[in-house]
Amino acid sequence: MVSDITKHYPVLLNELISIITPQHGGTFIDCTFGQGGYSKKILSFKETKVIALDRDVESKIEADILASKFQNRFIFKNKKFSQLDNLKLKNENIKGVIFDLGYSYTQIKDPKKGLSFSSIGQLNMQLGINNFSAKEVINNLSANELEKIFKFFGDEKDAKKIANQIVISRKKGELDTQNLVELIEKNKKKKNFKIHSATKIFQALRIFVNKEISELIYGLIAASKILKKDGVLAVVTFHSLEDKIVKYFFKGLSEKKSISRYLPKIDQPDNLFEMLEKKPKTPTIQELKENPPSRSAKLRYMIKKENFYNFETDILKQFEHLIKIENLGDKLWKNFW
Ligand SMILES: C[S@@+](CC[C@H](N)C(=O)[O-])C[C@H]1O[C@@H](n2cnc3c(N)ncnc32)[C@H](O)[C@@H]1O
Repeated sequence: MVSDITKHYPVLLNELISIITPQHGGTFIDCTFGQGGYSKKILSFKETKVIALDRDVESKIEADILASKFQNRFIFKNKKFSQLDNLKLKNENIKGVIFDLGYSYTQIKDPKKGLSFSSIGQLNMQLGINNFSAKEVINNLSANELEKIFKFFGDEKDAKKIANQIVISRKKGELDTQNLVELIEKNKKKKNFKIHSATKIFQALRIFVNKEISELIYGLIAASKILKKDGVLAVVTFHSLEDKIVKYFFKGLSEKKSISRYLPKIDQPDNLFEMLEKKPKTPTIQELKENPPSRSAKLRYMIKKENFYNFETDILKQFEHLIKIENLGDKLWKNFW
């Protein structure tokens, strides 16, 4: 069967369910509710509860339907997952925290969001609860700042050339989506026939506008705190930068023997987390046929071995250079000036 491109497919759903085992009941946090694909499946098992988050307020339409169907078993919060720590879940018995990163089919098809290079009109790319849009980024940041964004978040080879051209072109007037796509197409040295010329720049802008690197890092830290012993942390990523962060974080915590370096050796617990599989799970041939956009999906998971809340991690230090680039957006804050 070829995919029905008018609907949203929850990626790696069977693999996720086999890992988090909702058939035994428990409370799960779906950090990226979207169209509710994962939440609905978890709720189909009787003894489960789901707390779902999504930064896009439009997810609330689907969430309200689930909330009325599963009154005591489902709640939705229009929040970013970096705010997970503020939800006072420390004493809840959380069995699984799941992230399915990026955006959904419904969001990319929404012209208001301007996530796609085929959108007509203003640049945007805000998924929800943002402080500025891609329009402000493209029309205000310096060539050097734009170059860093394109290079580090998009791995764009022609980052410098494209950034310089943007600064020249915007003197004639604000750039919209179409102007930007045309400018990128003109300034790419080598054409890649597998992906659209604007793919990498659009990915970079989306990451920057939504602060996706800081979101992911703070989300992973908060999730690791609130999970209970034997709980599962599962993450589906869609590009190499996300996967690199998840892999580094998982490796660090599953090799780390001590919550605190100040604990005497004798009191040190086993590994904080355990990774049962080193390699990520990827879509089957069948899923790829039904849903081709799943081709870049990777699912990694680890299991919490001890009940602890605070722990040490060097993840912020390791990716400090990327967080610094994201913070270049602070000067664009709508409410700031
Ligand atoms: C790939 S979709 C999730 C699809 C969902 N698993 C399903 O089956 O319907 C990703 C969702 O995560 C949301 N999202 C992205 N970053 C977020 C963040 N930092 N906090 C909360 N939600 C986020 C997006 O708005 C989008 O709805």
